Amino acid sequence: MKETILSGMQPSGELHIGNLEAALKNWVRLQDEYSMYCCIVDWHALTGDYQHTEILKERVFEVAVDYMSAGLDPEKCAIFIQSDVKEHAELHLLFSMMITVPTLTRLPTYLEKKEQKNLDSYGFLGYPVLQAADICVYNADKVPVGKDQEKHIWLAADLAKRFNSLYGDTLVEPQVLLTPIPTILGLDGRKMSKSLDNHIALGATEEETAARLRKMFTDPEKLRKGDPGRPEVCPVYMLHQVYTPSHKEEIAPPCRSGELGCVDCKRQLAENLNTSLRPLREKRVVLTQNPDYIWDVLKNGAGRAKERARTVMQQVRAAMKMDYYG
Ligand code: TRP
Repeated sequence: MKETILSGMQPSGELHIGNLEAALKNWVRLQDEYSMYCCIVDWHALTGDYQHTEILKERVFEVAVDYMSAGLDPEKCAIFIQSDVKEHAELHLLFSMMITVPTLTRLPTYLEKKEQKNLDSYGFLGYPVLQAADICVYNADKVPVGKDQEKHIWLAADLAKRFNSLYGDTLVEPQVLLTPIPTILGLDGRKMSKSLDNHIALGATEEETAARLRKMFTDPEKLRKGDPGRPEVCPVYMLHQVYTPSHKEEIAPPCRSGELGCVDCKRQLAENLNTSLRPLREKRVVLTQNPDYIWDVLKNGAGRAKERARTVMQQVRAAMKMDYYG
């Protein structure tokens, strides 16, 4: 029996190379080894922005396209929309009884976002509880996430444990699957993120990609060609490390000596990045032109996800002696 993995992303619009390198490439490797569920968490998107629901459909579609163009294969993993599987909501409600408000208000992710976005809703407080339900409703063994999400997975494991101690062994306590991932910095040297608008979108054209890279920050002490540069502090060099296999010989030394100027260095990066993304982008164009196929994949994925979630929820209700007609 293969172990089960669940992963999820919010449909916050076009994915970028940070998502690709930090998450998607890893998921694509995992789909061969594990029984995998890839969720597009549209309910989670409402915790930050519940007013603008009219954009959700397009964004869900985009994420599905990006998932598949990155190589997630609907034959191997269930790709689906969270709100298609109502069992997530049921387990979220049950979990919400078993956790205290201070446990949630102490989480760093809560404190940060609350500050940033001035969020104070009940739903937003419950974000990690819903995430725990996403995971536990499949009895997932592992969750591949970045370090920033680690505490949320621990919370899911705590909830599963609490449930088991209250009602008897039913749920699997999920584990974090941390994988070493390259740091992908955005154009301004901060972590790449769509909300900071410092990203390179997977769907950007080659020209847009080159144009955005031209504006990228470099070593602040290297002002012009001829000045010696420090690759180790340069966000452009960080991307070379991912996209230029020969960066150690061909980029770092001439940057240090001053021989390689930032303009040329960025041009080379744009070329390599575009070459590396070309197959994905070509697939993306084809998939985008076949919306019926994408929606079918999501519907089928939800069917498979529901099967598993329904079984787990029957066990949950039985454990709680709430299977009244059984
Ligand atoms: N909170 C995750 C993020 O911001 C998204 C997410 C929701 C998730 N549910 C999940 C990730 C379940 C892994 C498993 O990236």
